[in-house]
Amino acid sequence: MHDRKDLHVTTATALTRRRFVSTSMAAAGLPLFVPARVLASTLEDVRALEAIQAEADLLGAGKPVSGLWTFGGSVPAPVLRVRQGETLAVRLVNRLAQSTTIHWHGIRIENAMDGVPHMTQAPVGPGESFDYRFRVPDAGTFWYHPHERSYEQVARGMAGVLIVEEPDPPAVDQDLVVAISDWRLSAEGLLKEDFGSPHDRSHAGRLGNRITVNGAINPEFPVMTNERIRLRLANIASARVLKLRVEGVAARLIAVDGQPVSPTIAYEEDGITLGPGNRADVIIDMLGEPGRRLALVDVADKRRELATFVYHASRRARAEPLAAPIALPANPVPEPDHSNALDAELVMTGGAASESDHTMFPNPDAIWSMNGRSGMHGDPLFGVALGRTVQLRIVNDTAWPHAMHLHGHHFRVLSRSGSRKLRPFWWDTVLMDPREEMTIAFVADNPGKWMLHCHMLDHQAAGMDTWFDVTA
Ligand code: C2O
Ligand code: CU
Repeated sequence: MHDRKDLHVTTATALTRRRFVSTSMAAAGLPLFVPARVLASTLEDVRALEAIQAEADLLGAGKPVSGLWTFGGSVPAPVLRVRQGETLAVRLVNRLAQSTTIHWHGIRIENAMDGVPHMTQAPVGPGESFDYRFRVPDAGTFWYHPHERSYEQVARGMAGVLIVEEPDPPAVDQDLVVAISDWRLSAEGLLKEDFGSPHDRSHAGRLGNRITVNGAINPEFPVMTNERIRLRLANIASARVLKLRVEGVAARLIAVDGQPVSPTIAYEEDGITLGPGNRADVIIDMLGEPGRRLALVDVADKRRELATFVYHASRRARAEPLAAPIALPANPVPEPDHSNALDAELVMTGGAASESDHTMFPNPDAIWSMNGRSGMHGDPLFGVALGRTVQLRIVNDTAWPHAMHLHGHHFRVLSRSGSRKLRPFWWDTVLMDPREEMTIAFVADNPGKWMLHCHMLDHQAAGMDTWFDVTA
C-alpha cells in the first residue's frame, strides 16, 4: 500500500497541462486531460503526436521519474476525442531512439492504419513520421499504444485513451476518463528498465508496484451529491488484471470495450474485471451525502485505493438524482451467422507451470506457443473470405490467465468453460482463466491481415501472437 504522503495529485509535464487541461479541471488540481475537440476530416486538422521522452512526477514526491516515453509529452498520453463517423488524423512524429507505431486498440479500422510493424506498415524509425488517418465507425472508449516492442514502450508510458463520442450521449454531469497504469519503480522511485525479463515473460507478465490513475497516485475527483457521472475505465497496464469497484455506490455498466451493453447491468458488490486492454463505461449516481469520500478500489489487489471521489462539503447538484435513461445506442457491428461459419481452433501452451517453477526456456521469444508455433509466421492461423463468420475455439492449456485480443473486429463469446459468467458483450479483448476453453465468434468483415495475441505484453513478445487473413 502507498504511504499517505504519496496521496498527492500530480500530473505530467507543464507543457501538457497548458495544452490539455481545461481551466476548471486545472483549478481543481485534477490530473485530467481535457483536450480541445480533435479533428474533423480536412488535412489542416492533422494533429501531431510526438513520441518523445519525458519526466513525470508519478509519485507526487517532487522527484520526477525519468526514462518515461510518451506520446505528446504526457503520461498517460493525451485523451483524443472524435465524433462517431468522423475521421481522425494524427501525424506520429518519432523523437525516440527506437522505432515505434501507433495501434488504435478496438477501432474497427482500415487495415493499413492498424499500426502493426512489418505487417500493416513499416516501423516508424527515429526522426521519421507517419500519418494515421481513419474513420471511426463505433462510438465508445478506446485506446492507443505502440505495437513495436510494446512490452517496453507501453511499460514506459506510451498509451492513452481515445474517445469516440456518441452523437447523442446520455446526459451526465461529468464524463471522466480513468486510465489505469501499472509502473515498476525502484525503491528510489525510478522506472526499472528490466523490460522483457525471462521471469515476466514466463509468468504473469510485467506487474508493477505503483498504480496510477491518469498519471497520478490516488487522485481526487470532486463530485456533488446527486450528480450523475460517466466513468470511462481503461486498463492500459502491461499485464495487471484489475477488479474495479467504487465503494458504497451502485455502478451501471453501459459499455465494454467500446461497445454498448444492452440491457445495462448493475454492479454492486462485485467489481468489474478488466484484463489488460479492456475498457468499461459505467454510470454512477452519486447518492452520498455532502462531505463524504468514496474510493475507487481494486478488489483484486487487497482493495487498494486507486482514486477518491470527494463530495462537495455542502452543495448538491440537484434535489433528486436524474431519472433519464442511460442506455447507449448499438454500434454497427454485424452479428455472426452461425449457419455458414468457418471453424478454427487455437490451442495455447507453454509458460511456467506454476509460480514457483523456474524452468529455463532456451529461447526467450518462444516461451509460449499457439498451435505449436511461437510468434508471427508466414502462414496465418486461418484465412477467411470477407463477410464470413468465424467461430474460433480457444483453449488455454497453460497455468496462466491470458487477455486475448483480436485486431480489427469485435467478437462475442459463445461459450466458456471456466467459472466466469458468460456475458452477452462484444469484446475486443477477453480475459481467459488458466485451463479455460472458450468459443468466440465474429464476422470477418474487415479485409486484411489482423493480429490475434495475448495483451499481457510480455507474453505477446514471448510467442503468444499470431494473425489471420481476411481476403476479399
Ligand atoms: Cu492493444 Cu495488438 O494491441
Ligand atoms: Cu498471456
